[in-house]
Amino acid sequence: MDTPAERVSATPLDVPIVVRPAHMDDLDTMLQLQAIAFADKFRAAFGRSKTSKGVAALARTHRLQGPSSLAGMHVAESARQIVGTITMRTAEMRIDDGNAVEQAFMQELGTWGTLRALHAFSQLDHRIGRNEAYITDVAVLPELRRRGIAGLMVRYVAGLARQQGKACLSLYVSASNAHAIALYHKLGFRQQRVRRSWWNALLLGERRWVYMTCPLL
Ligand SMILES: CC(C)(COP(=O)(O)OP(=O)(O)OC[C@H]1O[C@@H](n2cnc3c(N)ncnc32)[C@H](O)[C@@H]1OP(=O)(O)O)[C@@H](O)C(=O)NCCC(=O)NCCS
Repeated sequence: MDTPAERVSATPLDVPIVVRPAHMDDLDTMLQLQAIAFADKFRAAFGRSKTSKGVAALARTHRLQGPSSLAGMHVAESARQIVGTITMRTAEMRIDDGNAVEQAFMQELGTWGTLRALHAFSQLDHRIGRNEAYITDVAVLPELRRRGIAGLMVRYVAGLARQQGKACLSLYVSASNAHAIALYHKLGFRQQRVRRSWWNALLLGERRWVYMTCPLL
């Protein structure tokens, strides 16, 4: 299970940063931050100028399922402001309740919008192995980038994964995301394989997705 919030030393920011499990109260801010950081993925999943509908659908999905749907989701907070997000999933965690997802998406997006979004998200699916802790949703507020916040969050979840006896961290990153790849390399991740798909290119604007892992010693 998640450890309680941990105060970690901040890098060049004046105010200390805390990485902690996400709460329901954080939901709207987290999703807004991710909608900015992953604007292209949100456009692909929900359609042009439908980002706010997508955010509403995701928020409704979590509210229907309650706090347990936030398992593995963490935020970086500085001076009471959420400045980053990261999710760490393991094979033991329960997956989203499909009924809640469908219900929430149908209410916010309608039939075609739901089909489109669920299909786009299915392209990013990964079957999590027993020995790995799988990272997603690594995002930092644009104005606070290059201050070590993402590194801090990844190191924080690495600590959680170690406590759970996991052998490695893993993630997929789009091959064109040079900034993120530089970040993960610096943290000790190495490329294992590349997933290539024209369907992904069509839907998500990226044909090649790099699977990277980092051993947890
Ligand atoms: C990728 C992202 C999370 C990095 O967050 P960040 O807090 O700025 O990263 P950090 O400050 O911890 O960077 C650590 C290292 O990563 C590398 N790095 C991060 N951003 C970089 C950039 N824009 N250009 C080059 N290297 C970069 C550098 O090696 C950096 O160390 P340095 O600053 O000492 O040179 C942030 O740019 C972001 O939110 N991007 C949009 C969402 C996204 O692409 N997420 C990744 C999905 S897999």
